Amino acid sequence: MCIFIDCLLCPTVIWSAVIGIGVYFLKDYMQGGQFTKETNETGKVVIVTGANTGIGKETAKELARRGATVYMACRDMTRCEIARLEIVKETNNQNVFSRELDLSSLASIRKFVAGFKAEQQKLHVLINNAGVMRCPKTLTKDGFEIQLGVNHMGHFLLTNLLLDVLKKSAPSRIVVVSSLAHTRGAINVDDLNSEKSYDEGSAYSQSKLANVLFTRELAKRLEGTGVTVNALHPGVVDTELARNWKFFQTNFVKYFLKPMLWPLLKTPKSGAQTSIYAALDPDLVNVSGQYFSDCKPKEVAPAAKDEKVGKFLWAESEKWTSKSD
Ligand SMILES: *[C@@H]1O[C@H](CO)[C@@H](O)[C@H](O)[C@H]1NC(C)=O
Ligand SMILES: *[C@@H]1O[C@H](CO)[C@@H](O)[C@H](O)[C@H]1NC(C)=O
Repeated sequence: MCIFIDCLLCPTVIWSAVIGIGVYFLKDYMQGGQFTKETNETGKVVIVTGANTGIGKETAKELARRGATVYMACRDMTRCEIARLEIVKETNNQNVFSRELDLSSLASIRKFVAGFKAEQQKLHVLINNAGVMRCPKTLTKDGFEIQLGVNHMGHFLLTNLLLDVLKKSAPSRIVVVSSLAHTRGAINVDDLNSEKSYDEGSAYSQSKLANVLFTRELAKRLEGTGVTVNALHPGVVDTELARNWKFFQTNFVKYFLKPMLWPLLKTPKSGAQTSIYAALDPDLVNVSGQYFSDCKPKEVAPAAKDEKVGKFLWAESEKWTSKSD
């Protein structure tokens, strides 16, 4: 007993305990806003892009838990099917489907939409979640710089092709996963496709700013239809999004920086909360063109309010994505 108390009071143990408890509360605090309202989504049809991992998978799982019919739209069908089986097992919801969608291919997007419409008459929620980050210079199958191509152009076409069924299913919602990185972004009007010069960080921020500009322009176009569209920042989340970022693959990051940052990162489950809030909160039924962070509204960057650039981006996106294969 003496030894026990002795040990309890020795500085190493005390400090370890204090630090441990501190890290625990810090991690807990950093998880941010959570969506806690219980809703029943039985009978609702939902599409989540990039649903096989990270925030997308957690979003799909939570919607399945609430009874929705969930379409998991993924590029890698093997991983999609593994995630789907896990979700079905955990939620006991059999209405979860994996379908192929490669957002870096206009042909694949058209094929996905045709397949979806052949199976479902309704779509209540579309969650544009998939994203790539800090890729080395790469072009999509249609010649678009890949971050703008996947994060914005692919979702632009997907959303527009699904608008008819969303309108038919109103009240319905579109959720666009953007990022705080949009505040660093600029739309390069003279070189939208980064042909003259390429910087992986700027191209990423541009694509995330494009997400917000798209959301605001689309909200105006959808006024009075019963279809809403909102963008959001999920938080700084520990996911695979940074898999293309060489910096994140160094040993320094893996064994030193990441453990240090761990208390500050959201889990994918916490990262999914704002998407779920935007998709489901009954109070948001008439809210459109907004931007959320931590399950509440947040101001966007001045560049995201530039309607002229928003219209330019919309016109370019229509031009780029109307190319037939
Ligand atoms: C949700 O609603 C459906 C019918 O609309 C019902 O069968 C089901 O039991 C409800 N689920 C929960 C958890 O209340
Ligand atoms: C949403 O708008 C409809 C139609 O204008 C209205 O009937 C309804 O009360 C509104 N709901 C909320 C939560 O604001």
